[in-house]
Amino acid sequence: MSSETEVIASQLNILSHNPLVAGADLADLDQELTPTSLFFVRNHFPTPNLELDSWALKVEGHAGRTVYLDYDYLKNMPSREVDCLLECAGNSRAAIQPPIEGLLWDHGGVGTARWKGVPLREVLERAGSLDLTTDVLLEGADRGTENGMAEEAAYAMSIPLEKALDLDTILAYEMNGQPLLPDHGFPVRAIIPGWYGMTSVKWVQRVSLLTKPHESFHEADYYVYVPEGEIDGTNDGAKPARVTSMAVKSLITWPTRGLTVSAGAHTIRGMAWSGEGPISKVEVSVDNGASWRPAQVTRSKSPYSWQKWEFVWEAAQPGHFLVRARATDVNGRVQPDKADWNFRGFANNSIHAVPVSVKE
Ligand code: MTE
Repeated sequence: MSSETEVIASQLNILSHNPLVAGADLADLDQELTPTSLFFVRNHFPTPNLELDSWALKVEGHAGRTVYLDYDYLKNMPSREVDCLLECAGNSRAAIQPPIEGLLWDHGGVGTARWKGVPLREVLERAGSLDLTTDVLLEGADRGTENGMAEEAAYAMSIPLEKALDLDTILAYEMNGQPLLPDHGFPVRAIIPGWYGMTSVKWVQRVSLLTKPHESFHEADYYVYVPEGEIDGTNDGAKPARVTSMAVKSLITWPTRGLTVSAGAHTIRGMAWSGEGPISKVEVSVDNGASWRPAQVTRSKSPYSWQKWEFVWEAAQPGHFLVRARATDVNGRVQPDKADWNFRGFANNSIHAVPVSVKE
């Protein structure tokens, strides 16, 4: 383990040592920007150790046109800073009942950081004409095999051209004002705002123009919503949909699960976000969903970050309570009581519920 990895691992809850997978405590997520030391890590393969002296980004256009851009060149290109939330598609999987296969993320597979880098479109312009291009491949320098993979391969994902040309889709070289740490993708990673984290490819070493979506294991077989019918054989043969934009969601950062508080006024707090626009309201229930009251929601400076919310609870009576929070986004998408089931338990945005006791 590198010294940087040890520091990260010491402040997070480890789900896997190698490859490193680690998430934050919910109580630590109560801030607009997540410090890098508290930002979750999700690696499919061991972290590659890349040296700047021998590193260059390979950009492949059509008709054999290839250019290489080194780190200094990228840093001298027009840059953009984006406050952007990343959530792992498997976040909150541990809350699914009955338990489901996969990494048992509690709720800490999410964070917001300030990323700085080059708009991907600037890089694509170096690849020549975009005619015929439908998708753009992002390939990482990490490789390996996982359950279900036929052979060893690099971690790679493609995104539609339209998403690649969005000015806020960047190849980032800084996170929270510092060069990326190895576990977060040093020297360069993609940031794809609004989508679950799997397409924000780390250690990007190759960008390629495609004329159809790529079919890597991770994008065509793994990060897909496998419906129930696919498992019990009643599916009509339709291809499972790929995991893309994030569902609307809120999490309660205070009180923590099982806390006992004194009777009196308490401020219930949390964070809310959606992959498809700002949050329009968060409602809180302290009686297991029988009644809901509006929380105060702060505005966010960035369309891709989360919003803080709080609600003052007058806890007059002693007893046991179930606190719940429900977010709605500007498109009217409401966080459901129970998210739709899918085989790998992706995108679990079921309403978060936290049991709390009030003593005399
Ligand atoms: N990129 C590469 N090359 N390899 C990976 O394993 N994991 C993806 C994505 N990019 C991954 C990757 C997943 S599933 C997520 S959720 C995010 O990185 C996590 O980014 P972080 O570890 O910086 O939090």
